[in-house]
Amino acid sequence: MGVLADPTAIQTFGYSLWYGDFQALFDVDLTVAQNKVTSLIGPSGCGKSTLLRSMNRILDRLGYVRTAGRIEVLGQDIHAPNVASQQLRRHVGMVFQRPNPLPLSIRENILFGHRLHDPKHKTMGREAQDEVVEQALRKVLLWDRVKDRLGGNALSLGLEEQQKLCIARLLPTSPSVLLMDEPCSALDPEGTEAVEELLWVLKETYTVLIVTHNMAQARRASEECVFMLMGEVVEHTATGSMFVSPKDSRTADYIEGRYG
Ligand SMILES: Nc1ncnc2c1ncn2[C@@H]1O[C@H](COP(=O)(O)OP(=O)(O)O)[C@@H](O)[C@H]1O
Ligand SMILES: [Mg+2]
Repeated sequence: MGVLADPTAIQTFGYSLWYGDFQALFDVDLTVAQNKVTSLIGPSGCGKSTLLRSMNRILDRLGYVRTAGRIEVLGQDIHAPNVASQQLRRHVGMVFQRPNPLPLSIRENILFGHRLHDPKHKTMGREAQDEVVEQALRKVLLWDRVKDRLGGNALSLGLEEQQKLCIARLLPTSPSVLLMDEPCSALDPEGTEAVEELLWVLKETYTVLIVTHNMAQARRASEECVFMLMGEVVEHTATGSMFVSPKDSRTADYIEGRYG
């Protein structure tokens, strides 16, 4: 004893999910540590995106989704009647495969969520807004590259910069968790490396949960790894040990490339 367990950011308890009659997640018990990068890996269709999307209830909008069990973010049951999904998404931000900035200026992309969600926004002066923009762009290592063209259209940025902007625009509402679903899949190797490096910076402040189908990426960019298969969590361990000495034979088969 005497070794403190890492504080928990997200915990699921017997969490299952159905799309209509099709069960996509089975009884998932998962604990995601705070201020770490955790990756979800597993073959296509195993439920990585479904599990990730459960964490901010973005699947609620599909009328045919049903769930059982519980998910807690920082100890709060996210399905509790007093939790509004808008409120939840301020705390649990999400980035998608393809960067999806709004067709607005770089500055407006950063301020958009803040304007919607932060009651202080209305009374903020221009300078305070500028400060919000600068802080967010600095955090994603984009400030120096875009500070002279904040009024330019976000869609004129390269894909790596767009993806960093999509991360940056989550930050002004002070989330605790960042969910990323294959955030590098549209990027070239350089952009991928840049975003992976950014994850190490972000995890100082946020908990990062990332889906990747790229095992080399999981190995490079995450500290903990969760291997999923057919809607179940098979193994969750430190990334180093998962790739060196997997405990489950199914994990070993996967990392040795024996699944399609
Ligand atoms: N919106 C949806 N409606 C119905 N079935 C879905 C939907 N999204 C995903 N599925 C199914 O759920 C399973 C898990 O999908 P997904 O979570 O996207 O897997 P992964 O991200 O690991 O590739 C797959 O069989 C997929 O076809
Ligand atoms: Mg997916």
